[in-house]
Amino acid sequence: MPSYLITGASRGLGFEFLRQLSNDSKNTVIGLVRDKKKADDKVAKELNRPNVHIVEADMNNYDTLKTSADKVSRILGGKLDYLIANAALMSQWSAFDPLGALGGEPQKLSQDILDTFSTNVLGNIHLFNVYVPLLQKGDGKKVLTITSGAGDIELVNQIGYSGGAPYAISKAAMNMVTAKYNAQYAPEGILFFGISPGVVNTSEGNVEPTPEQLEGIAEMVKRFQIHEPNFNSFLTPEESVKTVLSIFDKASLKDGYGGGFVSHLGKGEKWL
Ligand SMILES: NC(=O)c1ccc[n+]([C@@H]2O[C@H](COP(=O)([O-])OP(=O)(O)OC[C@H]3O[C@@H](n4cnc5c(N)ncnc54)[C@H](OP(=O)(O)O)[C@@H]3O)[C@@H](O)[C@H]2O)c1
Repeated sequence: MPSYLITGASRGLGFEFLRQLSNDSKNTVIGLVRDKKKADDKVAKELNRPNVHIVEADMNNYDTLKTSADKVSRILGGKLDYLIANAALMSQWSAFDPLGALGGEPQKLSQDILDTFSTNVLGNIHLFNVYVPLLQKGDGKKVLTITSGAGDIELVNQIGYSGGAPYAISKAAMNMVTAKYNAQYAPEGILFFGISPGVVNTSEGNVEPTPEQLEGIAEMVKRFQIHEPNFNSFLTPEESVKTVLSIFDKASLKDGYGGGFVSHLGKGEKWL
């Protein structure tokens, strides 16, 4: 009975992980969310499966993460096989403008960077620390961080893309966090690694983008095409999660995945 814990399971890729993994009734799949009532309603309406559980926690609040681990432990009998660290904050304010322009509002920039770092980096560090004891007792022993090509320095240098810096900084930092956890836990057989899901349309239910945001997206796509000239459309969550899970299933310490990060297309492949 493999067990999975997915953070950020309320929507987007996280909900799609919940959906695809719970398709197999042998899996027990737990979604970590900020608003349990809302997520329970969505799960009841769209999935209605006995192998799905929703537990509440905020990535910015250590105590809620610790309490969630106690709840998950009770559901799973003290052990967890697989953890997918998917939750992240993607600030709209800093999504497209370069740091030099955002610096026109220094306090706002400080707060944006701190908020992004708190959720995307520190939150995952606390998450790993409270869940490692369960993973140590589990059989799967894999921890996947959903990272991004945005955190790849070589890509940024290749395409010269200056937008979304706070988010990119957090993803690059998280890649190092993954390497550090791998250094600590690979000797006891736990694999920590990252996969970028590609560029995915997870905007369902969001408000319509403003003209400035559309302009920002167009510029970003133009830059992405320097890396992959054939890039012209976003993946659906279903397509992305399918490819991520196929890599996740086969990835192992033995095959050199430990501490690294790969694209949804696999090791050494492009980000798009
Ligand atoms: N979409 C893409 O093209 C793309 C590309 C590269 C990488 N990624 C990565 O893929 C992952 C999922 O992206 P997505 O597009 O599905 O994002 P999304 O639709 O914006 O969903 C983000 C999820 O993270 C949760 N979250 C945010 N802050 C949280 C907090 N403080 N505590 C708990 N949960 C929190 C959100 O919960 P609420 O519902 O409560 O807000 C939501 O479930 C992220 O790690 C992202 O960086 C995405």
